[in-house]
Amino acid sequence: MDFPLFHLDLVGNRIMFAVIAILHVLINHALAVGAIPLITLMEWWGQRTGRSEWDRLAYRILAVCFIVTTSVGALTGVGIWFSASLANPSAIGSLIRVFFWAWFFEWLVFVTEVSLIMAYFLTWKSWTGARKPAHIGLGVALSIMSWLTMAVIVAILGFMMDTGTWPEAPTFWRGVLNPIYIPQLVFRTPGAMVAAGAFALLLAFFFTRKGDGFRAQAVRFTSAWTLGWVPLCAAGAWWYWRVVPEAMGANVAVALTTQAFESWHRTVGYLILASAGVLVLVSLWGVTAPRRLPRLALVLPVLLAFALLTYFERVREFVRKPYVIGRYMYANGIRPADYPLLATDGVLAHATYTPVRTITDANRLAAGRAMFNIACTRCHTTTGVNGVVKKLTDLYGTDPWEREVVEGYLRTMHNTRPFMPPVPGTEAELAALTDYLLELQRNPQRLPGAQSVGVEVPDQETPAASRADASGDLHAGRGGPTLLARPVTPGSDGETSPQVGTHDPLASPH
Ligand code: HEC
Repeated sequence: MDFPLFHLDLVGNRIMFAVIAILHVLINHALAVGAIPLITLMEWWGQRTGRSEWDRLAYRILAVCFIVTTSVGALTGVGIWFSASLANPSAIGSLIRVFFWAWFFEWLVFVTEVSLIMAYFLTWKSWTGARKPAHIGLGVALSIMSWLTMAVIVAILGFMMDTGTWPEAPTFWRGVLNPIYIPQLVFRTPGAMVAAGAFALLLAFFFTRKGDGFRAQAVRFTSAWTLGWVPLCAAGAWWYWRVVPEAMGANVAVALTTQAFESWHRTVGYLILASAGVLVLVSLWGVTAPRRLPRLALVLPVLLAFALLTYFERVREFVRKPYVIGRYMYANGIRPADYPLLATDGVLAHATYTPVRTITDANRLAAGRAMFNIACTRCHTTTGVNGVVKKLTDLYGTDPWEREVVEGYLRTMHNTRPFMPPVPGTEAELAALTDYLLELQRNPQRLPGAQSVGVEVPDQETPAASRADASGDLHAGRGGPTLLARPVTPGSDGETSPQVGTHDPLASPH
């Protein structure tokens, strides 16, 4: 509400975020947190046994990890920041304030991690002989730093799911020590090790020669690493599962599948267990009979590990709905604590960037669209991924939807579908939103985001604007919004006001 709304009406904000974030997690967990200790162990083993093959293999695996983590890994890390502040600026803003010192520390750890990986990689060939132990020491330090980057962020992820006692006494440490933090960390740590083992198994195949006895040893080494972490991973998963609060349990079926395939969630659950089982079996095979492991079995573990990790992130993101920060802020960026105020004053009256603040007959569709933008677009598009037209069509068919039915649905949707927050605002705003949805059925128009059309503010005196004048606040109300703001006069031409222009059927009700 306080920010112009970035919106991708085809794929939705969620997919944008998911692609960047999941890519980052896969790289961070498998190629940094898990891989660095594995590489260090291999280097140490090479030194201890005096066999240079181990050293060479460790170096080659490190080269891959070094290139990928410092390019795609670092870029997607920054990408998470950009995409989070686009998709939900209120949420990320709150998190930065609660976890400022954690993030500050994270930044220091990250800079240290990057410096160490450069040092570790670039000195590999020169720190030999008497300096080898010091080089292995670098690997140990890098392993600790890599783990710390994850350990700090997991505190915030846990907090987003369950804020624990923080809402009652909002202190930094209560935020960090939320009920889900430690269990999730205990699960993720061995999970990262398992993923790294699976990844290293694949690389070991590429970096060793056929017929050379060393390949079998490398396969056995990486498989044993994976297998060794599996019991801890299973224990962590069990603990984590136990602390996922009751309310989230109700979302699990949809989180594992989608609404359409909800009844399949058990099957999907078994599939997940089966995938984990196959991963364990291949590792067992790799340890006991490394020579006879077929090629497919070298690719399978890494594919399964990455798929499981991806799925884990999806489910974790979904189960905490309707909240983006447990019990503190809904996914639409509005705090439950603000709902009573918005129910009397109206959402639009308090929104900084909206073309409409006071609803009239002439602007009700624009008002409804603004409501949809604010209340629904963090999760829905109009006709793209998770499009609301399709959702309503699934419910009410292709004949013109009945006004009362849709309005009734909106009124109670948070009860029937507990992963959605209640619609905020007044009765008039609910009615305007309904009108907009009915109009979308007749005329399924794309909804552009602020990034492509800028923002509009109403060309009239508004309660918020006069309040802003009175308080001297330059950032609220008409004319206040900065570079992006484009005051629009209703009925002005479509060139300068793409959302309210004459080409726009929503501006003039049919
Ligand atoms: C927290 C994210 C979120 C918000 C905010 C949200 N929804 Fe949803 N909504 C979902 C998800 C997720 C689904 C189910 C998707 C699936 O699995 O098919 C859904 C499903 C629906 C459905 C179909 C439900 C059914 O019972 O079949 C409708 C209709 C709908 N949403 C409308 C809205 C409207 C209108 C708004 C804004 C007032 C809104 N939603 C806000 C996430 C959200």
